[in-house]
Amino acid sequence: MRIGLIGLGRIGAVHADTLAALDVVEEVVVTDPVRAAADAVTGRISKARAVDSPQALLDAGVDGVVIAAATNVHAELLEAALARGVTTFCEKPVAGTVAEAVRMQELAAQASAPVQIGYPRRFDPAFVAARDAVRDGSLGRVHTVRSTTLDPAPPPAAYLAVSGGIFRDCAVHDFDAVRWVTGQEVVSVYAVGATDPDAPAAMYRDHGDHTSASTLLTMSDGAIGVVSNTRTNARGYDVRLEVHGVTDAVAAGLDDGLPLRPTQPGVSWPAGPPHTFFMDRLAQAFRAELATFCRVVAGEIDSPCTVDDAMGTAWAAEAATLSAIEGRPVTVAEVQDRALV
Ligand SMILES: NC(=O)c1ccc[n+]([C@@H]2O[C@H](COP(=O)([O-])OP(=O)(O)OC[C@H]3O[C@@H](n4cnc5c(N)ncnc54)[C@H](O)[C@@H]3O)[C@@H](O)[C@H]2O)c1
Repeated sequence: MRIGLIGLGRIGAVHADTLAALDVVEEVVVTDPVRAAADAVTGRISKARAVDSPQALLDAGVDGVVIAAATNVHAELLEAALARGVTTFCEKPVAGTVAEAVRMQELAAQASAPVQIGYPRRFDPAFVAARDAVRDGSLGRVHTVRSTTLDPAPPPAAYLAVSGGIFRDCAVHDFDAVRWVTGQEVVSVYAVGATDPDAPAAMYRDHGDHTSASTLLTMSDGAIGVVSNTRTNARGYDVRLEVHGVTDAVAAGLDDGLPLRPTQPGVSWPAGPPHTFFMDRLAQAFRAELATFCRVVAGEIDSPCTVDDAMGTAWAAEAATLSAIEGRPVTVAEVQDRALV
């Protein structure tokens, strides 16, 4: 099959390599307004061919499209792909604003082709096993889920400016993981954000953004989610999920790359070196995610993360953003009421 790939920045370049390594993919048609980004991909990947624009890419008659461009252009690109009836993978979050995301939900519901939203933890073997442990009942009733995403260093200022802020950009991975692993929806949130006084205001405060954040989630079947995020975890990239039930508890992400230094005398675990970036910690998940997307393109399976499904995560991020601004708990129903009037 021929897959189009729109956007060749940090994640798009990785997706280009991943797609090209799949036997089922014969050609990857790529585009990015930054010519050097396209040249770098076509220079190292023999299966890749560059075109000048997303329009030219859709005109090339691809079987499926992967949108890995900046968050603020997801909606226009997804709308264009759906108008052509092309099966589409769109990186998280669904769109730059919740209003656009709602519109994408409506378009996807009417579209002839499926959409898969990119939440890679759904394809990480440890997260899959944690979800299985919830579903097979071995944990008993789940009361607490702790989900952590700590980035070692902030993304570039230009990325942050269009990211939607730490809740919509980073915490969404945790909100989605808690929903997906527990099978429960987020009912209400209480979020706080903090900004490192040494961090450049133009990167954070000027956009109402934060360097660190924590969110408490009340889930639909009574579980409590505890979500931690930061852009400044210098020891490494920390992605973890603990699920605690009344009969047992499990954790995903407790490998030797966990970026924590134990202080107990005699304890030498984790052996290290720490994970340094999402690419190394989640490489296997990205491969499985895009291999799955190719099966969606081939019509073999349904989308494993539809726009409808991903909207549960988008609403939680919207509620968390408002909660941190107003310093109070916010229900998902409240932000839905505000947005859907
Ligand atoms: N699933 C994950 O774990 C994960 C990880 C990182 C990023 N992301 C998501 O992927 C997206 C890209 O993130 P990134 O880190 O690669 O950002 P980036 O800033 O490194 O790259 C974005 C790229 O999009 C290109 N672009 C901008 N407008 C475009 C347009 N109209 N058409 C085509 N290309 C366009 C830019 O030139 C740039 O090369 C974001 O939405 C982000 O949320 C997901």
